[in-house]
Amino acid sequence: MCGIVGYIGHRDAYPIIIKGLQRLEYRGYDSAGVALYNEESKRIFTVKTKGKVQDLIDKVELNGSPFTNLGMGHTRWASHGEPNDVNSHPHLSNSGNLAIIHNGIIENYEALKTMLKQEGFTFKSDTDTEVLVNFIEYVQQKENVKLGKAVQLALNQVVGAYAIVIFDVSNPDEIVLARLGSPLAIGVGDDEYFIASDATPFIDYTKDAIYLEDEEMAIIKRGTAIQIRKIGDDSIITPNVQELEFSLEQIEKGGYEHFMLKEIFEQPNAIQDTFRGRLLADKGIIRMAGVDDNIDRFLNAKRILIIGCGTSWHAGLVAEYIIEDLARIPVEVEYASEFRYRNPIINKDDIVIAISQSGETADTLAAIKLAKANGAFVFGVCNVVGSSIARETDAGAFTHAGPEIGVASTKAFTTQITVLVLLALRLGKEKGVINTTDYYKYLYEMMAIPDKIAEVLESNAFLEEIAAIYKDATNFLYLGRGYNFPVALEGALKLKEISYIHAEGYPAAEMKHGPIALIDEQMPIVVIATRKGHYDKVVSNIQEIKSRKGKIIAVVMKGDTIVKNIADHTIEIPETFEALTPLLTTIPLQLLSYYIAIMRDCNVDQPRNLAKSVTIE
Ligand code: AGP
Ligand code: GLU
Repeated sequence: MCGIVGYIGHRDAYPIIIKGLQRLEYRGYDSAGVALYNEESKRIFTVKTKGKVQDLIDKVELNGSPFTNLGMGHTRWASHGEPNDVNSHPHLSNSGNLAIIHNGIIENYEALKTMLKQEGFTFKSDTDTEVLVNFIEYVQQKENVKLGKAVQLALNQVVGAYAIVIFDVSNPDEIVLARLGSPLAIGVGDDEYFIASDATPFIDYTKDAIYLEDEEMAIIKRGTAIQIRKIGDDSIITPNVQELEFSLEQIEKGGYEHFMLKEIFEQPNAIQDTFRGRLLADKGIIRMAGVDDNIDRFLNAKRILIIGCGTSWHAGLVAEYIIEDLARIPVEVEYASEFRYRNPIINKDDIVIAISQSGETADTLAAIKLAKANGAFVFGVCNVVGSSIARETDAGAFTHAGPEIGVASTKAFTTQITVLVLLALRLGKEKGVINTTDYYKYLYEMMAIPDKIAEVLESNAFLEEIAAIYKDATNFLYLGRGYNFPVALEGALKLKEISYIHAEGYPAAEMKHGPIALIDEQMPIVVIATRKGHYDKVVSNIQEIKSRKGKIIAVVMKGDTIVKNIADHTIEIPETFEALTPLLTTIPLQLLSYYIAIMRDCNVDQPRNLAKSVTIE
C-alpha cells in the first residue's frame, strides 16, 4: 500500500498535495515525493526523498515550490528497489515530459525494461514504475498519440497491479489516471479534481467522489467533464459520483472499526499480491529471485534452520511441516531469542530462514548476524523493503502484505506461509519429491486460496456470536495436530495479546499429558479438526474433552458431520490440501480473538504492553 495524491484545478496544488500525503501516512511508507508543473519553466519540478513526509516538506522548502495548479505526490511502500531518493516517486520519462506515480507491482517490467533499453531508453532507478512511465512514453512516440491513448495502449501490454496518475508537461491542462488492483478515488470539486488512494486527502474540499473500478481509466481535462473509459475496449463509463458520509478515521480504516479487522479482511488480496508474478500455474512456474539465484544452495542444503519470534515463529513451524513433507529437507525452528544465546551449532552449508513482518525485531536481527558470522546463508521472509533484516540477509522474498498496522499480526502470518509454501513446492518439484501432476494441483490450489479465505471470512458474524458466549472465560485451550498444531499456537497468541485472556496452544495428542486436567465446563477449547491427517484421533480427543464437559469450538472441513454432532460450535472451512489448511484454519481464530477483545473493550489495534515491532531485547 502506498499513498497517491493528485490535483488539477484552480488552487495552489502543493499545499493540497502535501496535506493529502500527511493524511495518507497511516498507509505506511518508506519514502515520498512530489511533482509539480512549473508554469514558468514549462518543466516538471520534482522533489523526492527517502523518509517521512516531513522530510519531504523540509526538502521542498529548501528548493522552494512553484505556484501551480497541476501536481501529484506519492508515499512509497517499496516493492522493487530499495527505499532511497532515486527510487522514490514521482518518476519522469527519459524526455522529462511525463511524470508518474504508481501504487502496485508491474510483473513484466523486466521484459519491458530490456526492450526499452534496446530502444535507447536509460534508467536512473531500480523500480518497475520508471519502466512503466518510459513504456508509456515509448508508445506515445511510436504511435504518435496523446497521453490518454498512450496510457491505454501501454496498459494493455502491462501485467500486474497498478493505480497510476500521470501528466504530460506538453499538455498541462490534463491529467490521466488508471487502476487495476490498487485503489483510486477522485474528488469532484467546482472546476477542480482531487485524486487519491482514498478520500482522506480531499474530504475537506469535497464530499463528491468517484471510485474508479478495476480496468478503468480517467482523463481529466481542465474545463471539460471527466471522461472514464474501460482500458481494454475503450468503452465509455458513466461517472458514478457518490456523496461521502464517512469520517476521516473511518476512511483510514477502509470502513472497518479497527485496522486489525481491516487487515484480516485484506488477506485474500494480500496473498494474491504475495504470489503475484511469482506463481504462474499455467506454466508450472514458481519464481522468486532470492530463491532462483540460490537454488543450488537450497537443493544441496543439509538442513534449514528457521528463526523468528511470535507469530513469525509460528509461521516457521508451519513451514517445518510443509518443507519436510513436500521437499524432504530437514528443518529446525527456533525462537530467535533462544537461538542467539545458546551457542547453537551452525554449519556452513546450513540455510537459515529468518521470518519477520517488521524486519526490525532485535532478537531476529541478532540471530541473523550470529548465523552469518558462522558462515550460514541467510534468507529473509520480510514485509518491509529496506528494513534492517531485509538488508542484513543474503537474499530473501518479500511478503507483499502491505503495511500491517494492527499490533496483532494477521495478514503477515498468512503471507509468510504463502512465501514458504511456494519455496517448499519449488524445492519439492526440483528434488523430484513432488510429481508433476501433484505439483500442478498444488499450484492451482494455491491460486484458489484467496477465494477460499474470502469464503471463510463469511463466517464473520457467526464468530461474533461465539465470541459473545465465551468473552468472559478466564482460560482457553487451543488444540491442533500436524500442520495445524502451529495454528493452535497462533490462535492462542492472538487471543492472549488482544483480549488478555490466558490461552495455550497444544498438539491435540498432548492433552492427555497434562492439559486435560484443566478441562471443566468453564473451559472453552478450540480444536482444529480438518478432515485431514489424523482426523480420527482428533475426534477421539474431542470426545475426551466432551466427556469432561469442556466447551468445544471446532474448525472443520465443509460437510463434516461427525465433529458437528459432538462440538458445541463448528466453523467450516472449504476443502483444500492438508499442507494449505493453515491458510484457512487461522482465519476463524483471528476473528474469534478480535470479537472477544472488542467485547472486552480492549484496545485491539494497540494492546497494552505490546509494540508492533520489538526493536529492543
Ligand atoms: C504477533 O501478533 C505479535 N505482534 C508478535 O508476536 C510478532 O509476531 C513478533 O513480535 C515478531 O515480529 P516480526 O514478525 O515483526 O519480527
Ligand atoms: N512497485 C512500485 C515501487 O516499488 C510501487 C510500490 C508502491 O505501491 O508504493 O516503487
